[in-house]
Amino acid sequence: MTNFIDLNDFCLTDVSDLVYDALKIKENVAGFSNKMNGKILGSLFFEPSTRTQFSFQSAMLRLGGNFLGFSDPSVSSILKGESFSDTIRMVSANSDLIVIRHKRDGAARAASFYSSCPIINAGDGTHLHPTQTLTDLLTLKQLKNGFSNLTIGFCGDLKFGRTVNSLAMALSRFKGNKFVFISTKELKISSFLADFLQKNGCSFCERNSLEEAIPELDVLYLTRVQRERFTKADDYEKQKGRFKLTLNTLNSAKSNLVVLHPLPRVDEIDYEVDNDSRAAYFLQASNGIYARMALLLKLLSAKGFQSDFSKANQQGRKLNKVCGNANCIAHFEHDLPKLFVEKEGSFSCIYCDCTEQTEAH
Ligand code: CP
Repeated sequence: MTNFIDLNDFCLTDVSDLVYDALKIKENVAGFSNKMNGKILGSLFFEPSTRTQFSFQSAMLRLGGNFLGFSDPSVSSILKGESFSDTIRMVSANSDLIVIRHKRDGAARAASFYSSCPIINAGDGTHLHPTQTLTDLLTLKQLKNGFSNLTIGFCGDLKFGRTVNSLAMALSRFKGNKFVFISTKELKISSFLADFLQKNGCSFCERNSLEEAIPELDVLYLTRVQRERFTKADDYEKQKGRFKLTLNTLNSAKSNLVVLHPLPRVDEIDYEVDNDSRAAYFLQASNGIYARMALLLKLLSAKGFQSDFSKANQQGRKLNKVCGNANCIAHFEHDLPKLFVEKEGSFSCIYCDCTEQTEAH
């Protein structure tokens, strides 16, 4: 394991091992207190975060290491015009590992081309959030004894939901899982996720009523409608508040349903639900530290780190086209090579995986 950008870069054994390691750490946190003595985590949050940022920093401190970085890029030399790639070069020269969150899809992959140390994706735009998925899997391991043969409902903002993309893709690789996607038609799952599930022969259906879907679910994964992803305030106003989990809705759910939410919540879970035994979202959030401790240990124990730049240039191809995803990092950082990889006869963007291209101007 070198960089941690996308769980699809790893086999299922690697993923399960990380969850197992996290469980072991949770049982004996003090036993790991000096494993990262002298090591430094570069913590680059270009986008707001409470859970992910604090749990990474706390994980590093609990392992005996330290961290540097920012939670607001306007305090860095980016404000003076320094490019993303140069920022990554500089931070990696001062760190042993970098964790990065960014509002652009593909930012973590782009960072891995310029970093001299491993990169961890802490959420890139609407694309992926793989360390949240580790946290989610750890919680399922504890409460469902694994991640197979489950019916999982995802509800809320499925179009822009990076946590949904990462978790659904990961669970689709384990046996016997079925998905029920519950949303308005405007916030249905992205073609990126739908294509992935279809290609992998994974069973899913789409619904527009939480009340109708809830009785069949083993796991309900709620998400907030993300105001920051909408270009028009009006569109957000039309979508907010459309789904809400209440004690009344839970009356028709299984007694062993597990209710997850990556948090933060806005209004999609009534506060009264917090006291129901099926509410597991605070346990899930608290598991973040153990999942991230396990990941930091795994990445720093890997030998022979090499930047992905030469690999990207070997695998990637230039086309006379640009990525069709308007939020792709390649549109905003002009020194990034516009590269595509060929998979099963079609091209996808090396940064954000988008399979559509538009004419270059
Ligand atoms: N779940 C999650 O990513 O929360 P934060 O945005 O607070 O990090």
